[in-house]
Amino acid sequence: MSKKTAESILSAKQFSRNDLLEILETTKKIEKTLETKKEIPLLNEYILATLFFEPSTRTRLSFESAMHRLGGKVITSVGMQFSSLAKGETLFDTLKMVEAYADICAIRHPVEGASILAAENISIPVINAGDGAGEHPTQALLDLYTIKKHKPLDEKKLKIAFIGDIRNGRTIHSLIYLLRHFNVEFVFISPAEISLPDVYKNELKNQNISFYETENINDIKDSDVLYVTRIQEERFIDRKTFEKFKDNYVIDKELVLKYSSNCIVMHPLPRLNEVSIDLDDTPYAVYFDQAKNGLFTRMALLLRLLNINF
Ligand code: CP
Repeated sequence: MSKKTAESILSAKQFSRNDLLEILETTKKIEKTLETKKEIPLLNEYILATLFFEPSTRTRLSFESAMHRLGGKVITSVGMQFSSLAKGETLFDTLKMVEAYADICAIRHPVEGASILAAENISIPVINAGDGAGEHPTQALLDLYTIKKHKPLDEKKLKIAFIGDIRNGRTIHSLIYLLRHFNVEFVFISPAEISLPDVYKNELKNQNISFYETENINDIKDSDVLYVTRIQEERFIDRKTFEKFKDNYVIDKELVLKYSSNCIVMHPLPRLNEVSIDLDDTPYAVYFDQAKNGLFTRMALLLRLLNINF
């Protein structure tokens, strides 16, 4: 039986358009405030637990930085091999400890749905910080914030091109759920074997959002946003398949100038070769700013889940 009493962030599907506009507004206020202040000390009494059972740089560090900048405290468990899961403890028992020690937790886990299991069994808010090839809703929220900073939402139809490992790219799955609330069309560029799963295609069809799938990188033509992802090596059982796809698409300055000179180039990072470093110093590249926006967005989300007004 569900013991959940607090709001959690488990899927990007849970957000209404109004929720998103509120989160974007709070995030903007936080970014503005941090231009002149180091801290917004509203969470002094709270502890965040970060449980990361898959590798991470940005998500874990930005959640922890967000909690510190809000005056709160952080406890962390990184890598299954360094937790008692390695001694055979169940995830359920681990979560019962987290519930006792912290007020809110962010969990990254290789199994899809792990954060749902967590939220059903503990009474503190749970944040899905990435569950296997499933979703990564807080990344999608910072992605949405980044898009809005550069391309006004709803003024005209935005053409968003997703490129890379669309089957396994959990940030893409979550971002689709958020962008369906706005005036957008999608192009999905990937080899057929790693294309968008049906569940997301059906969602787009149900919402009458136009999209098409292609293997041709030239179809980035006239896009407003190029959202590039890494081929997710860790999701392939067979290394040969990964090798086959790994350098299929490389977005560089020449390609952007030729086909899509009004676009921004986004990437959830880490990148391998799929975004050339020759873009880094151009106005197209927003991926480092995107990662920075994770701090402001996650501060807004911690406040929201703990019911603290800002
Ligand atoms: N974008 C993202 O999830 O990065 P990390 O894997 O470094 O957290």
